[in-house]
Amino acid sequence: MERTLSIVKPDGVKKNLVGDVVGRFEKNGLSVAALKMIRLSRDEAKGFYIVHKERPFYESLTDFMSEGPIVVMVLEGENAISKVRGIMGATNPKEAAQGTIRADLASDIERNIVHGSDSPESAKYEIGYFFSSLEIVNSGK
Ligand code: CDP
Ligand code: MG
Repeated sequence: MERTLSIVKPDGVKKNLVGDVVGRFEKNGLSVAALKMIRLSRDEAKGFYIVHKERPFYESLTDFMSEGPIVVMVLEGENAISKVRGIMGATNPKEAAQGTIRADLASDIERNIVHGSDSPESAKYEIGYFFSSLEIVNSGK
């Protein structure tokens, strides 16, 4: 059993895609262990994406991530990290495989609807960034 952090980004919330995104995870055997809607400040978005601080897209990305509410969730299941990455599709929607969230619902490399942790280390950092241990429930499965 593994845990990962996923986010419905501001574009996904704006387009009323929260249920669609969560539903795709649940249909693929992942369970929601924690979930909430929040709005990040620019500094909070910068802290979340600190690994990208040297990248040319850092400023624009953190502006985008703080422009409106997001839904953050902890997902639990076997191989949850890679499973979520597979359901999301490639970063660039134009390169994402058919049937993935990004291929189906996004059209822009930055505004690509969804986030998912990319490793056990990043999952640990990202889950702890948004949730205390008391807010995460064992699915009991
Ligand atoms: O989200 P993912 O792990 O697939 O990609 P990333 O390389 O960790 O980049 C984080 C986020 O930065 C992406 O999801 C995009 O929103 C944005 N990004 C961008 O705007 N332009 C790029 N060339 C690469 C990423
Ligand atoms: Mg990433």
